Amino acid sequence: MGPQQPRQAPPQPEQPKQPIPGVRHLIAVGSGKGGVGKTTVAVNLAISFAKLGRKVGLLDADVYGPNVPLMMGSQAQPRGNADQIRPVESYGVKLMSMGFLNPGDKPLVWRGPMLHSVMQQFLRAVEWGELDFLLIDLPPGTGDVALSLVQTAPLSGAVVVTTPSDVSLEDARKAINMFVQVRVPILGLVENMSYLIAPGSGRWQRATPMIRSQRLSANWRYASKRAVRKSKGPGRR
Ligand SMILES: Nc1ncnc2c1ncn2[C@@H]1O[C@H](COP(=O)(O)OP(=O)(O)OP(=O)(O)O)[C@@H](O)[C@H]1O
Ligand SMILES: [Mg+2]
Repeated sequence: MGPQQPRQAPPQPEQPKQPIPGVRHLIAVGSGKGGVGKTTVAVNLAISFAKLGRKVGLLDADVYGPNVPLMMGSQAQPRGNADQIRPVESYGVKLMSMGFLNPGDKPLVWRGPMLHSVMQQFLRAVEWGELDFLLIDLPPGTGDVALSLVQTAPLSGAVVVTTPSDVSLEDARKAINMFVQVRVPILGLVENMSYLIAPGSGRWQRATPMIRSQRLSANWRYASKRAVRKSKGPGRR
């Protein structure tokens, strides 16, 4: 007897995604694989936008491994009351992370529904104020938190991060397909850790040819455009 296939859940009707008052663009930074540089890319994007004079927030959605406080060099405690939390600010970026609420080495042992509710609070009960961009640093993979966020948050688009390795590209494809399925436009594919600088000679060396990332990039452009066209309905291109 072969392995039992889990029964597929019936398709759910699309829920309307309530906008976040004051936030113009909500952008997710995700990947299929862990450790490829999502947080690094999200932090650098956020600080770069702030340096360009844009109002920026960064929401750390990696509740099990929140690295934003360390990368943004902040250990502040967010203030607030039961209804509203005031974000921490560092390098001109407003921040919210589970790392501020549960600092230290204590692991968080929460299940899906609690994660979903804390993410909704981070989105909607934090005083983000007027923002040009609110970036969301997603946890790795296409699990509970990532899925519930992309299904409920009114995302303007997503940035997918990968390394040039086949294993990372394979998982990046899954992340891209998740965004395509929920009709979130993909704004770009970042190939991180593309090369190394050889010690001694100082020459740039690529670990793998760029062609694979370029092929994936061409494919998502097509799939993403098609999905967004579909979501706008017939007659609109
Ligand atoms: N281009 C790079 N060159 C060198 N080191 C890098 C580069 N990008 C990221 N790193 C380092 O790689 C490690 C993993 O990066 P990061 O935490 O941003 O990945 P991640 O995808 O967010 O991981 P996780 O899936 O655990 O959230 C960090 O130590 C980071 O400093
Ligand atoms: Mg991370």
